[in-house]
Amino acid sequence: MAILQVNPAKKGAVINKNLYGHFSEHLGRCIYNGMFVGKDSPIPNVNGMRTDVVEALRNIKIPVLRWPGGCFADEYHWKDGIGPKETRKRMVNTNWGGVVEDNSFGTHEFMELCRQLGCEPYVNGNVGSGTVQEMSEWVEYMTFDGVSPMAEMRKQNGQEKPWKLKYFAVGNENWGCGGNMRPEFYADQFRRYATYVRNYGDNKVYKIACGPNVDDYEWTDKVMAIAGKFADAISLHYYTRPRSLAWDDKGPATGFEECEYWTTLRNALWMNELIENHLAIMRRHDPERHVDLIVDEWGTWYDVEPGTNPGFLYQQNTMRDALVAALTLNIFNRHADGVAMANIAQIVNVLQAVILTEGEKMLLTPTYHVFEMYKGHQNATLLESWVETHDVGDDKVQLPNLQQSASVDENGRILVTVANISLKDSETLAVSVPGKEQAKVSVRVLTGSMDAHNTFDAPETVKPVDWTDYKQENGVLTVTVPPCSVTAITLD
Ligand code: AHR
Repeated sequence: MAILQVNPAKKGAVINKNLYGHFSEHLGRCIYNGMFVGKDSPIPNVNGMRTDVVEALRNIKIPVLRWPGGCFADEYHWKDGIGPKETRKRMVNTNWGGVVEDNSFGTHEFMELCRQLGCEPYVNGNVGSGTVQEMSEWVEYMTFDGVSPMAEMRKQNGQEKPWKLKYFAVGNENWGCGGNMRPEFYADQFRRYATYVRNYGDNKVYKIACGPNVDDYEWTDKVMAIAGKFADAISLHYYTRPRSLAWDDKGPATGFEECEYWTTLRNALWMNELIENHLAIMRRHDPERHVDLIVDEWGTWYDVEPGTNPGFLYQQNTMRDALVAALTLNIFNRHADGVAMANIAQIVNVLQAVILTEGEKMLLTPTYHVFEMYKGHQNATLLESWVETHDVGDDKVQLPNLQQSASVDENGRILVTVANISLKDSETLAVSVPGKEQAKVSVRVLTGSMDAHNTFDAPETVKPVDWTDYKQENGVLTVTVPPCSVTAITLD
C-alpha cells in the first residue's frame, strides 16, 4: 500500500492549457496526408483538412499548434505559400528527406486548420535564411486591419479580415539548423528582428526567443542577458532518446529491450532538472518573471520504422511512450508557475505522434490517450500532492515506481494523474484528499506491456478503460493500479 496525498488547501499556479500544446512541421507525413489532403481527396475532409484527424484532435482539446517548423521554419519563405495553388513555388525540403514541397499548405491553410481545431495558432518565423523585412511583412499580412500592401495582398487572397495571432517565434534552433549561431549573435539578431514584429490594432504578439538545446545553460544565460528584456518567452528543446544522442543509435520504437525501457524513462525524467536549472538562470536575469520558459519541442525520438524514409521520422508509439508523456506532463503541471507552454513533437505521423495515418486509415496512439486522460488539467489549479514510492528498475537504472500530479478545476473537480512505471508490480494507493471523502469517484486506466501499441489492423489494443478495482469505504479511497500504467482519478 502506498499513500497518495493531495492537499486542496495548498494551491499552486493555474496550469496553462498551452502545456498541452502540439507541434506540426513540413516534415514527412505530418502536414501532407497526415492532416491536409486537399479538397479533391477521396479522404473525407473539410477545406482539405482530414475530418477524422480534426475530430480526434478536438476531442483532446488541443489548445495551441506550432507551425511550420522546426528546422523547416528557417528555410521557409511564407510568400511561396500564398495565392493560387497552381502558381505556388515548388521547392526542395532540404531538411527532411529532400522531397518536393509544393507549398499547397501555407498561411491560409494553417489558419483554417487552427479554426477547425479550435486552437490558437503559433507561427515560427525565419531568422536563419530570411530577412527582417520578410518576417515583419508576414506579421503585417496576418494581423494588420488597415490599408497596407500586405493587408491588400491578404484580401486579394480571399481573407478580408486579419487573423488573431498571439504566439510568434523569432527563429528555431538557431544554435543548430537555424543558422549555427553563437548565443551572443543570435541574441542580437533576436533584438533586431523582434523590433519589426509589430503589434497592429489590439493584436499583441507574444515574442518567443530561441532557447537552449537540452542543458546548454550558457545559451540561456547569454540570450537572457542580451535579449531577455525584449522577449516574452524563451524556448527549450529536449528529446528523450533511449540510447545515445547519436543519430544512428537511438534504438527501436518497438521490440526494445527492458533496459531501454528504463533508460528512456530515466531520460524523460531529466526534463525536471532541465526546467529547474534553466528557470533558475532566467530568474537571475529576470527576478520579476516577465519571461516565461516554454518547451516547444519535446517527446521521444527513436530509429525510424524499418522500410520508411529516414528523413520522415515516422515511428511507432507504445505504452513506453504513454509513460514518457504521463511523466512529462506531470512535470509540466508541477512547474505551472514557470512553464507557460509545451508542444509535443509532432502531432501526426512524426516522432511521438498522438495520431498515425496510413492512406484513409487513422489510429490513436497510447500517447493520444494520455493527453485525453489529462485534459482536465488544462487551466485547472495545481494542488500540492505527494506519493510514497520505492525504487524499481534494473542493475543500472533505479527510479521511483510512482509519479503524480493533481489539480482542481473551477467546479471543484479534482483530477489526480498517476504513472506506475514498475513492469511487474501493481500498487494499491491509499488516496487521501481532505474534504473529498464522500466525493463521486471515477477511475480510468491505460495499461499494457511496455511494448503494447496500436496498429492499423488492431487499432484498439491500447486504450483507457473504466477501472473498477477501487474501494471507497469509511471515507478512504483505495485504488489498485496495474504495472506499466497511467491512471486518472477524478473526485467530483
Ligand atoms: O522535430 C524534428 C526536429 O527536431 C525539428 O525540426 C527541429 O527543431 C529539432 O531538431
